[in-house]
Amino acid sequence: MKGLREFMDEIEKSGDLVRINKEVDWDIEAGAISRRVYDQYGPSLFFEKIKDYPQGHTILNGPVGTWRRVAIAMGLAPDTPVREIYAEYEKRIDNRVKPNIVERRDAPCKENIFIGEDADIYRLPAPLIHEGDGGRYIGTWDIVVTGDPDTGWTNWGMYRFMVHNKNFLAGWPQTTSQFAMMLNEKYVPKNKPMPVALVIGSHPIDHMMATAPFKPGVSEAEVAGAVRGEAVDLVKCETCDLMVPANAEIVIEGEIPVDVIVPDGPFGEYPGYRSGTMAEGVAFRIKAITHRNNPILSMTALGAPVDDSSIAASLTAAVGMKKGLQRRGIDVTDVYVPPEGVTHLVVVGVKTGGIEVTKKVLDFFVARRVMVSKCIVVDQDVDVFNMGQVIHAFATKCHPGRSIVVEHFVGKSNALTPCYDADERRILKGAFAAFDATWPLEWPKENIPPRATFEDIYSEKTKAEVVAKWNEYGL
Ligand SMILES: Cc1cc2nc3c(=O)[nH]c(=O)nc-3n(C[C@H](O)[C@H](O)[C@H](O)COP(=O)(O)O)c2cc1C
Repeated sequence: MKGLREFMDEIEKSGDLVRINKEVDWDIEAGAISRRVYDQYGPSLFFEKIKDYPQGHTILNGPVGTWRRVAIAMGLAPDTPVREIYAEYEKRIDNRVKPNIVERRDAPCKENIFIGEDADIYRLPAPLIHEGDGGRYIGTWDIVVTGDPDTGWTNWGMYRFMVHNKNFLAGWPQTTSQFAMMLNEKYVPKNKPMPVALVIGSHPIDHMMATAPFKPGVSEAEVAGAVRGEAVDLVKCETCDLMVPANAEIVIEGEIPVDVIVPDGPFGEYPGYRSGTMAEGVAFRIKAITHRNNPILSMTALGAPVDDSSIAASLTAAVGMKKGLQRRGIDVTDVYVPPEGVTHLVVVGVKTGGIEVTKKVLDFFVARRVMVSKCIVVDQDVDVFNMGQVIHAFATKCHPGRSIVVEHFVGKSNALTPCYDADERRILKGAFAAFDATWPLEWPKENIPPRATFEDIYSEKTKAEVVAKWNEYGL
């Protein structure tokens, strides 16, 4: 599967894509329809006729807004269970595949090239997604490419970008993001603008890898190759040396001046609320736009879960956390990031529980930038993917007085955590709470009550007898 178009063919065949050929307005209407469909756990939407734009300028909302669509993007059967999608992702992720460099003439994203003054962002149907957004967001389901001039490392991140005027975008990469670190460490001291490319409509796995919290130095293009099981085709930009996916629908090339700020936001954000007020954003000076014939603008009408953001982050964050916890010597069985918890809540299954293990889990989460704010630690008899079982364990095993450990910190929290107040957000002050929903290690075995389920509370003999007669009961 080379790119977005082949993926769309697949999800159309499986009934996970709906084409809308009635004209739809870029101004709120496409966003409102998409939000309603997310709220109903519905399909990906292909808006084929956008008001004010020529036929062929289309918008696709929600490429991977359900686990079915993630499975298809990974080449799996649509009804693959989440547990298996996680396992397959974990299996593939370390088999890094170097990208394949292609010539301009072989790159579909170069079918139309606009440079300088011709690179007018209003050529593209950027949607005004939510009522109350600060502007039209061209970059939602995007890949923002930046490069380290010293090491040659290329970073992919997914950051929102809003149309400011014909030749400028405004964005808000958090200060803890690798985009901001690259800008502040490598370009600001030299007073040089940072080259940047904003990619829209690539293979959905490429975008998912851009949302993943990999360490600096990791090439998301190589990880995307691993997860896709084939090299990503890359091509050089027209106005700088950055490499971008050759099959992308749209590439916006430009630079980030270090001495300009432009207003950005508010925006209906990934934790599921509209973010505060208009704030100081980074400026993106557009130098070129290249796009395929009949470009498809990928978007996500971001907001309350479940949508592409919460699904993508669920997969990529959980597997990284599992490996990290294991590296710290914690006997982790599974980690699940329920999409409904928008990466603010994590469930960790451990072989041996107890408050000391819960404290170790907490230490892991607060060691770096802290995007998560809560985790529930459960024993291995709880299926972390089964939120019914997790809530049951949390409600019954977590002692309100002695099973909750909290740590506070400054300078590294996630400014988009809805429960933090304005002062906390300004200085990135936050806290992390770990809920120990395991039985205390010091309890004698006989004090631990068996779970009253068919599986756990009956002897093997009773279970076998009942199951053997099941049909006779008329059940
Ligand atoms: C739809 C979507 C929009 C996002 N927008 C932003 C954003 O505007 N700023 C930001 O700092 N992170 C944003 N994120 C989260 C980042 O993509 C995520 O933290 C990623 O790891 C960033 O890459 P990095 O680790 O290379 O910085 C967004 C995620 C999604 C799914």
